[in-house]
Amino acid sequence: MHILVGVTGGIAAYKAAGVIRGFTELGHTVKVLPTQNALRFIGATTLEALSHNVVDSDLYTDVDSVKHIALAKEADLVVIAPATAAFIARYAHGIADDLLLNVLLATTAKVVVSPAMHTEMWQHPATVENIETLRSRGVEIIEPAFGRLTGDDSGPGRLPESEAIVSGALSSIAKGDLTGKRITIAAGGTREPIDAVRYIGNRSSGKQGLALADAAIARGADVNLIAINIEADLSRFPKVRNVSSTADLATALDEMLPTSNVIMMPAAVSDFRVAKVESGKLNRQESQEQELKLVANPDLLSGLSKTRQELGLSTILVGFAAEVLSETQDSAELLDRAKAKLARKNVDMIVANDVSHGAVFDQDHNSVMIVSNSDSLLSKGTKLEVANDVLDEIFKLFG
Ligand code: CTP
Repeated sequence: MHILVGVTGGIAAYKAAGVIRGFTELGHTVKVLPTQNALRFIGATTLEALSHNVVDSDLYTDVDSVKHIALAKEADLVVIAPATAAFIARYAHGIADDLLLNVLLATTAKVVVSPAMHTEMWQHPATVENIETLRSRGVEIIEPAFGRLTGDDSGPGRLPESEAIVSGALSSIAKGDLTGKRITIAAGGTREPIDAVRYIGNRSSGKQGLALADAAIARGADVNLIAINIEADLSRFPKVRNVSSTADLATALDEMLPTSNVIMMPAAVSDFRVAKVESGKLNRQESQEQELKLVANPDLLSGLSKTRQELGLSTILVGFAAEVLSETQDSAELLDRAKAKLARKNVDMIVANDVSHGAVFDQDHNSVMIVSNSDSLLSKGTKLEVANDVLDEIFKLFG
């Protein structure tokens, strides 16, 4: 998605950095339009580095390209963070006296405004009226947070945390087609303890799982995230349960199964665990050689499928398969393997990708084959775009 981030001239302008980063990390293309006053608080270089795009705030350069119209058309979503009282007043009155306001008057995209100012200014009748005017025109207002302001004062007026702005803005254009659906997503990679401090782990970053959670929340779903050793900031997710080993994950999934409409497993689950975990720390001085005996872990997804049958549940189960293909094998082989896994695990969907040569891990892009009993399709793009394709296919399964 093309997101235009407008930054106006208040002390909270430096926090726009977190908002820009939040959108780019989710795979969106971000263009930043600071006002001249915003540039007194945050440098164009910072905004360019974070958005990976050139920053231009001047209405009167490249006039021949009619850039305010081009920017207005290109945007799928416009987010103003922070929005000052003066900006809100000019926008409410249609005073297009800089590049940002020209774009705002020309765009048909959804506009989200996140105000930040002192409490007195936020509660001033002029601001209250201007905010009402914007709301009545369909502009989404993210209420300022309560807290410490620039001086010694505190009250409503603080710019909310960047995660709240990012998810609030994305939900404002959500399809809402998954409203009321409870979706459990197990993301990350398990760790099997060897002794008190060591473990056997894997390279999963959990990024595809988090993109699924972001996309599902944005589409209205009630998402329970089972976070398996994920290092990223998870504060934007309302329901998170942290687990580490395959055994912990199995317990969490069993608990979630009866109340979930969908369980998605982008998790990298260890196929083996250490047979006897040392309670202390394995020590080189005590033995020069050490053998680790591994025993197979149960297949959790197959287990969920069996329990679903026993309990007569209709939970949709979605597996993810990381396949290593040779150079001569292509997407036909990936499809064959995904179909075989779908049948073997008796699940409703397999999302398969080729992870040979270190592709995919910790990347922002992905390329997958989405296979159900009735359909198969190739999805390529940012992990968020892939997540939405997977959710589209799940939506079809709800009938
Ligand atoms: N999975 C699981 N329990 C395991 C291993 C994997 O539930 N012990 C899940 C994964 O989370 C994933 C799906 O099963 O959603 C497919 O994982 P994959 O490793 O491809 O499955 P395996 O059964 O281990 O297949 P393979 O024999 O190809 O390794």
